[in-house]
Amino acid sequence: MKNAINNLTIKVNDIIVSYNDTGSKEAPVIIFIHGFPLNKSMWNNQLESLKDNYRAIAYDIRGHGESDLGAIDFSIDLFVNDLLGFMDVLKIKKAIICGLSMGGYITLNAIENYSDRFTAVILSDTNCTSDSLEAKEKRMNTIISIKENGVEKLAYDLLPNLFAPESFKTNSEEISAVKQMIVTTTIPSLNNSLHALANRKETCGKLASIKVPLLILVGKEDKITPPKAASAMHEKIKDSFLQVIPHAGHLSNMENEREFNKHLNNFLNDLKLI
Ligand code: MLT
Repeated sequence: MKNAINNLTIKVNDIIVSYNDTGSKEAPVIIFIHGFPLNKSMWNNQLESLKDNYRAIAYDIRGHGESDLGAIDFSIDLFVNDLLGFMDVLKIKKAIICGLSMGGYITLNAIENYSDRFTAVILSDTNCTSDSLEAKEKRMNTIISIKENGVEKLAYDLLPNLFAPESFKTNSEEISAVKQMIVTTTIPSLNNSLHALANRKETCGKLASIKVPLLILVGKEDKITPPKAASAMHEKIKDSFLQVIPHAGHLSNMENEREFNKHLNNFLNDLKLI
């Protein structure tokens, strides 16, 4: 993993947002949105691989990485509002959008409600369903566990679900980086995000209305948002593409960056924007 790229800051709505912004300002824009409880640096390899042809941007969702927490209760709607605000402040009228997991929940909400702001979509290791009662309860238990046992225990519990078993032998650098992202996320932000995730609305009902080119990527061994969730979305979105990434779990862009970037690049090339 390479370290921060250029770590810029900008005021968006009520908070300062931290972001990496690479490539030419004239090039087509692609914005990456990270998962929970991670940060923009999970996309460093994708930014490196795209920066010669695209303006590739990754930002920290509020309360994550180096973006402010703010004083408003988190929700996916609020995160979408931040995304649109971020694009407005940077004067980006339209962008390609790529979100992983929680970033995918934000992406789906954004494309379904503000379709005129996006030219193409990449959904990675995500789904369109809302939380079941059991999943909501699990999130509330996580909040209790964080209070009682701290963030190291959270990282210990999350890592086996975020990575494929074989990644523990092959991707130790990525695993340490992700652990660091988890343990440096503040407790108020973790709690706030867990409520936002538990309360999110489903976006499956509007999938058929998505008319822009759309690529779905999923790690073959993703336990959190498995390939069958990706296939279900693929079936509902006419003309979408689905690629299953081997040797990868939930963090497919980090675990098998070569395969992930290959499919991402092929999809982007077919858009013929460059
Ligand atoms: C994520 O990676 O963003 C989370 O696993 C999403 C979730 O817990 O639903």
